[in-house]
Amino acid sequence: MHLVDSVIRDSLHSEVTLINQISEYIINSGGKRLRPMLVLLSAGLFGDIQPNHHKLAAVVEFIHTATLLHDDVVDESSKRRGQSTANALYGNAASVLVGDFVYSRAFQMMVSVQNMRVMEVLSNATNTIAEGEVLQLLNIHNADITDEAYLQVIHYKTAKLFEAATRLGAIINHASPNDETALARYGMHLGTAFQLVDDILDYNGDSEAIGKNLGDDLAEGKPTLPLLYAMRNSNAEQSQLIRMSIESGGLDHLSKVIDIVKNSGALEHVKKLAEIESALCYTSIEHFPPSTFKQALLDLADFAVKRSF
Ligand code: IPE
Ligand code: IPE
Ligand code: MG
Ligand code: MG
Repeated sequence: MHLVDSVIRDSLHSEVTLINQISEYIINSGGKRLRPMLVLLSAGLFGDIQPNHHKLAAVVEFIHTATLLHDDVVDESSKRRGQSTANALYGNAASVLVGDFVYSRAFQMMVSVQNMRVMEVLSNATNTIAEGEVLQLLNIHNADITDEAYLQVIHYKTAKLFEAATRLGAIINHASPNDETALARYGMHLGTAFQLVDDILDYNGDSEAIGKNLGDDLAEGKPTLPLLYAMRNSNAEQSQLIRMSIESGGLDHLSKVIDIVKNSGALEHVKKLAEIESALCYTSIEHFPPSTFKQALLDLADFAVKRSF
């Protein structure tokens, strides 16, 4: 991961100073670097880790970083990784445009690896993330979406990149088609668990620990599963307040909504779903012999559910 970080730092250069400023700002703010870690762990299951793998791991982190730059504009978020978001500091236009720079830099690096399968996986994932974010936009302020519609959004916007990361690791070390599918499945389930928990943390997390503001989802009227479940499993008056909060957005009723969500059992329900996804991560890779790489992947499946940041 140190080598991945060097690639990340060495690859963002531009002659346009504002690009360096903003891209370095978000990259230096840290982040868990989970997705590049997944590329390396998955590759490690099938062979040695080589310099090209560090490069691809950095590519995946860049794609993630670009989505964050764009996502914080769309979500009007003011805090990420414990600091002000790029949009809060530099404005929406600069964030969107630098996000485009980071995306396209990722594609330049990806092409340099000269592997058609790799390009296929990453271009598909990037396209699907965009679809997920647009689908989510269509669902904003809609209290009547189904759980399936919510799950489709999180599969697209989040789990797809996790899946791409683990699939890539398998591809670059020439795993068999069956093993590649196993890793892709693992990644899809991990990403789903991860986003389910992200949506829980938006209601009961510790803002300091997650480095983001609580209530961002509620503020924009985003119908995430904790809200949908609480709306359906509360008394009429509470349920009406949640519906109204989704339909109008805003933080006027944040503390009341948080109470209703907590009392409805929504957080336990969503956590249970995340646990099921995490268990499916285990199942997906159970046929691999024990190794430090496999163990780390299993540990990440636990972390996705237990995490507080
Ligand atoms: C944030 O992802 C976006 C989601 C998919 C919830 P991470 O929680 O992995 O963000 P960083 O990179 O660690 O900041
Ligand atoms: C993250 O969704 C998905 C992408 C960045 C594509 P969220 O909007 O829930 O992520 P956070 O909470 O802002 O990190
Ligand atoms: Mg967001
Ligand atoms: Mg979130």
